[in-house]
Amino acid sequence: MNITISDLHFSYAPNVKALNGISLTINAGEQVAIIGQNGAGKTTLVRHLNGLLKPTSGSVSIGDWDTTKHSVAKLASKVGYVFQNPDEQLFSKDVLTEVEFGPKNLGYKKNKIDQLVKRALELTELTGKQETNPYDLSPTWRKMVALASILAMDTPIVIFDEPTTGQDFTNITRIANVIAELKKTGKTVITITHDIDFCAENFERVIALSKGQVLLDGSPREILGQEEILAQTYVDPPQLTRLGKKIGLQETVITPQEFLKALAQRAG
Ligand SMILES: Nc1ncnc2c1ncn2[C@@H]1O[C@H](COP(=O)(O)OP(=O)(O)O)[C@@H](O)[C@H]1O
Ligand SMILES: [Mg+2]
Repeated sequence: MNITISDLHFSYAPNVKALNGISLTINAGEQVAIIGQNGAGKTTLVRHLNGLLKPTSGSVSIGDWDTTKHSVAKLASKVGYVFQNPDEQLFSKDVLTEVEFGPKNLGYKKNKIDQLVKRALELTELTGKQETNPYDLSPTWRKMVALASILAMDTPIVIFDEPTTGQDFTNITRIANVIAELKKTGKTVITITHDIDFCAENFERVIALSKGQVLLDGSPREILGQEEILAQTYVDPPQLTRLGKKIGLQETVITPQEFLKALAQRAG
């Protein structure tokens, strides 16, 4: 199911223009990271994909559904959106009720719901915490509950809004595993992130936004190698990419593995 965004403009108020003519196609099964400084319009953009926001002008389509012609409830069967702040998303008294809510609401049969919930809990390593009140869990685990409740809906498109912000290494690895699993099953994953290493290691396409427009769009290697243009959105390439440049490596390296390989090659 492709996503088609055509000349999208959005203003919160006449003088608060957040998106300034965005056109993008995201194909089914793509893994896309969205980067850019605070206020660039990242959250505003992704909230158009599940219909939470409607274009001021231009259009957004999910498959052949124009988002202005379908309710948020209907779009929820196609696009899952994990909020940046889980506390805006969670409302149930225990983890199981929370994770079951989405698939129940989509009207799935009990068997299917049970399967989806079990799998979502396994993927997020929440099995065993079903009875716990999400508010008795640490913020780190609450984040995983928010993830699980969206995964359980089994939507073809999944959006994460800054999943790694404030998370420790263990949880970042957990989140990367969830994304890898979604990729394996052919889902489209769109992730807003400030974590450039996370972006380099887990995504095949990076879109940099600046002032409500697309500044760069390409593979991590293309994007993260363009230090000067990237600087316009106050994003630094990964430290190893910068280090590689400083020591005169020919190609742009974006992960530790690539850095070591290039060093070894240079040493002959
Ligand atoms: N609910 C809102 N009401 C008014 N202005 C908003 C609202 N949300 C965001 N904005 C403004 O829209 C612009 C884009 O914000 P946002 O999409 O949240 O950016 P990002 O997610 O990239 O940090 C910013 O100038 C921000 O201040
Ligand atoms: Mg945001």
